[in-house]
Amino acid sequence: EKGGWSSFMRKEVSEQPEAVANTIRGRIVEGEVHIPELESFGDDELRGIRRITIVACGTASYAGLVAKYAIEQWARVPVEVELSHEFRYREPVIDDTTLVLSISQSGETMDTLMAVKYAREQGARTISICNTQGATIPRESDAVVYTHAGPEVAVASTKAFVAQITALYLFGLHLARVRGTLSREALTEALTELQEIPAKIETVLGESERVAQLAHWMADTRSVLFLGRHVGFPIALEGALKLKELAYIHAEGFAAGELKHGPIALIEPGQPVFVVVPSPRGSASLHPKVVSNIQEIRARGARVIAIAEAGDAAVLPFADEVIRIPLAAPLFEPLLAVVPLQVFAMELSQAKGLDVDQPRNLAKSVTVE
Ligand code: M6R
Repeated sequence: EKGGWSSFMRKEVSEQPEAVANTIRGRIVEGEVHIPELESFGDDELRGIRRITIVACGTASYAGLVAKYAIEQWARVPVEVELSHEFRYREPVIDDTTLVLSISQSGETMDTLMAVKYAREQGARTISICNTQGATIPRESDAVVYTHAGPEVAVASTKAFVAQITALYLFGLHLARVRGTLSREALTEALTELQEIPAKIETVLGESERVAQLAHWMADTRSVLFLGRHVGFPIALEGALKLKELAYIHAEGFAAGELKHGPIALIEPGQPVFVVVPSPRGSASLHPKVVSNIQEIRARGARVIAIAEAGDAAVLPFADEVIRIPLAAPLFEPLLAVVPLQVFAMELSQAKGLDVDQPRNLAKSVTVE
């Protein structure tokens, strides 16, 4: 079923444009978000939500972290993201004005399932974002918004991740419309951005050969750091997780603003650092701050690989390598920036002769604690 691909992961990485397009399909009707699965939630109920708690593990939790920025910005409701296993053992404060959103590709992750059950017992309403029809977590939730990424076989999650962000964004825009927190124009603009993502991911995939070359040069690397800010921060975390699980390389992701609070001490000559650079076009732009972070680490000898928007010339003097992503509104950049990081980890794994679909010690779905 690999259909000519050398691994499931390679196939699934390449299927990301369809994963996003299929998750959108039928859910934008005449310029409006339309999620029939949420009909059991009346508009009054959605307006009454005081807080959203997202529960998930691993890569799914990073999709949740990305969505936190978008949902808060669009729907003006506080969102917290918790690892399911931390959530369920700390008597979290939730009630019937809390919406608990679970995210799980498999729909079978034990800790996430137990977190959802706990939330329901406490009176919270629950929605599951899931990629597997009829799985246990959606059955235990009040409603489910399926991601339509298609079966994900490789242990490392890729196309499910972009589909999760897509579904969460659709949900966030639906919520914003119901709560009246976004203007019509802003809503239309966001939906248009989302619909443009599949073609833009295709463009980013076109950079894969260069990323592969980079991975081959770096096959002996022992440690890689990832920096990002705002929605780029969870992408840094995801880039590090991919590298750990696939290439067994020590990797850490940081919020770029944290550098001076500790991590910069790790920088020594030759240390590779991937930096997810925010668009220079954002309004309260974080771009200059990240460029100055790049200068700081470069001055200490870091080898900087910047993931930056096409045409962003400010990074050129300071980065050793620049991987380009097409222009997108800031909240949509994660759907593009994650792709080279997935490809990098996959290629490094292959360069080291490892099993990219079945990394050691890992299972596709974690149905035990
Ligand atoms: O099936 P789930 O989405 O609940 O799985 C959650 C994590 O176990 C999963 O994302 C894991 O982190 C992947 N191996 C990441 O590539």
